[in-house]
Amino acid sequence: MCGIIGYTGKRDAISVVLEGLKRLEYRGYDSAGIAFFSDGTVRIRRRKGKVKELLHLFENERPVSHTAIGHTRWATHGKPSEGNAHPHRSDGIVIVHNGIIENYMELKKGLVAEGYVFSSDTDTEVICHLIHKYSRENLLEDAVRLAMKNVRGAYAIAAINEREDGKIVGVRKDSPLCVGLGDGEYFLASDVPAFFSHSKDVIFLNDGEMVVMTDDGVLVTTLEGEPIQKESVSITWSPSMAEKSGYKHFMLKEIFEQPRAIADTLRGRFSAETGEMNLEELGIGKDDLGSIEKIFIVACGTSWHAALIGKYLIEDIARIPVEVDIASEFRYRNPIIKRHDLLVAITQSGETADTLAVQKEARRRGARVMSVCNVVGSSSSREADAVFYTRSGPEIGVASTKAFTSQITSLLLLAVALGLSRKHIDTGVAMELQRELLAIPDKIEQILARNEEVESVAKELFKARNFIYLGRGLNYPIALEGALKLKEITYIHAEGYPGGEMKHGPIALIDEELPVVFLAPKGPLYEKTVSNIQEVKSRGGKVVSLMNHGNTEVAELSDYMLFVPDSNPYLAPVLLVVPLQLLAYHIGVLRGCDVDQPRNLAKSVTVE
Ligand code: AGP
Repeated sequence: MCGIIGYTGKRDAISVVLEGLKRLEYRGYDSAGIAFFSDGTVRIRRRKGKVKELLHLFENERPVSHTAIGHTRWATHGKPSEGNAHPHRSDGIVIVHNGIIENYMELKKGLVAEGYVFSSDTDTEVICHLIHKYSRENLLEDAVRLAMKNVRGAYAIAAINEREDGKIVGVRKDSPLCVGLGDGEYFLASDVPAFFSHSKDVIFLNDGEMVVMTDDGVLVTTLEGEPIQKESVSITWSPSMAEKSGYKHFMLKEIFEQPRAIADTLRGRFSAETGEMNLEELGIGKDDLGSIEKIFIVACGTSWHAALIGKYLIEDIARIPVEVDIASEFRYRNPIIKRHDLLVAITQSGETADTLAVQKEARRRGARVMSVCNVVGSSSSREADAVFYTRSGPEIGVASTKAFTSQITSLLLLAVALGLSRKHIDTGVAMELQRELLAIPDKIEQILARNEEVESVAKELFKARNFIYLGRGLNYPIALEGALKLKEITYIHAEGYPGGEMKHGPIALIDEELPVVFLAPKGPLYEKTVSNIQEVKSRGGKVVSLMNHGNTEVAELSDYMLFVPDSNPYLAPVLLVVPLQLLAYHIGVLRGCDVDQPRNLAKSVTVE
C-alpha cells in the first residue's frame, strides 16, 4: 500500500521527507513524489519508479523549506505514471493519500460539473478538489473536515494549503496514520519507520481522527473538530522491526493484514442495499458475462489453489463449466479454447512467466482474458481484456497469504456476478453471500486472536518429518494450500489430498509419527470427513482437526484442535486457511527457517 510522510519544523524538510520515503520503500510502490513550501509557494516533484529518481531532481538544487509532504504510491486506481503519482494539487491545495475511495466516480462527476479539471486517473484527485472547494471560506482543517464528510472508503491523508505555510493536516479512516513528536518539529506518516530516526515518541491516530500540525504544536480532534487528548507511545522497536510494524516477520504481518486486505478487496464492488454487483472497472460488462460458454482458470502454486476453489464456486453458483489448469501444463497441451470462452489468469505478482505465456496464447486463440492480479500495471494486467484487482497491498513475504484470501474473495464475487448475469441465482442469494463476505474480516480477526493456540500446536508438531492434509469438496484445495505453506516455509514434506482418496493408497502412510490435518467444518461433506478421521484414528494416526467452535464430536477424535467460526460453506476456505498459514509460520520459526525468504524460492517466478 502507499506510504505517506510529512514534516514541519526547523530542519530541511526536503531532506527529512526524502529520507522518510526511502524508509518506506519496503512497503512496495511504483512511483514517488514530494511537495514542499518554498518562497511562499508549494512546489511539487514527482517521478514514476523508485525514490532515487526523485533524489536526482535535488542533486543540483536544494530549495530551503521547512514544511513538506511526500508519498510512495502503490497503484490501486490508474496505472503507475508520473501523472498519477502523488502529491496531487488543486490550485493551492496539495495532498497525498493512502487508501481506496469507493464513491470517487460520483464525486468526480459532481466536481467536473462544477468546473474542476482532472489531470489524473486516480481516486485521490477527487479529495484534492473537494478540499479546494471548501477551502475558499475555511482554514485547511475545516475544509478537510467538510470534504471528508462526502467521502466513502478507506483513507489516510496529509494535506497542505499554499496560503497556510507551516501547517499540515492529517486524517485517517481504515488506513494507518501516526504522528512523530519532536522538539518544535512534527512528523506525520503511514508507518513509524518513515521518521523513526528522528522521533520515537509517537501518537497513533484512530479512525475518524484528525491532526493539525503547525509551529505551535499538534492538535488532535475528531472529524467534527472536538479536541481529543491522545497519549503518545514510546517506540522501542529496532529499525527492522519497525518496517514490520512490530511483527517479527513480514509473513506474520501479512497474515494479520488479511481482514483489511479482504475488506479492501470487497470495497465498492457491490451494493449491500440492492445486491447489485459493481464490477464495471473490470472491463467486462454484464452482457459479456452472460455470453461466456466456458471458463478456464489458469495459475501456478498458491494461485492455482485459488483457481481450484474458483471452479467449485463458479460451477455451483453460476453453472458455467470451468476447467482449471496449472499454467506450465496448460501452455503445452494444445488446449481447446474458443472465442466465447473466458480465460481467467490468477497471479499475485502479475509477472509469473508461465501464467503470462498462457494469457498471450489464449488471446492468440481468440478467447477473452481476465487477470485476477494484485499489482496494478503489471504485465498480466496489461495482457488482459479485463482485470480484477485484489487489493491486498504489497505482499513482501515469499509465501503468499493475504493475496490468496483476496483471490478467493475475488473469485466468489465473480461467481456471484456470473450467477446473477445468467439468472441462476436471484438478488436474495447474492445479498446473503455479500453479507457473509462482509462478515469475513471480523471472523478472521477472531481466528487471529487465537494465534497462541496455533503456536502451541506447532510446538507439539514441529519435529515431524511428514504431514498429510485432508479436505473434501471446496476444502480440498485448502488441504493443498496448507501442505504447500508447510513445505515452502518449514521444508517439511507434506501432501494435500482429497479426503476420499485416503483409502486409495495414502492410508498406508498412517502411523503415530504422521500428523494428519483434517479440514472438518460443518458443511455438505462433514459426515464423510468425520468417517475419514475415524479411519485415521483407528490406525493410530496423529489427528489435527480444524473445526467450528463447539464441535465435541470431532474434538473427541482429535489429538490437536484448531477452531474457525461458523460460515456459509462457500466461505469456509477463506477461514480454514488462516490457522494453516499460522501453523506453517510457527513451525518454520521453531525450526529456525527464514520464513520471509525461504531457501530456493523467489517471490515472483519470472522465468520458466
Ligand atoms: C506461494 O506461497 C508461492 N510463493 C508460489 O506458489 C506462488 O503462489 C506462485 O509462484 C504463483 O505466483 P503468482 O501468484 O505471483 O503468479
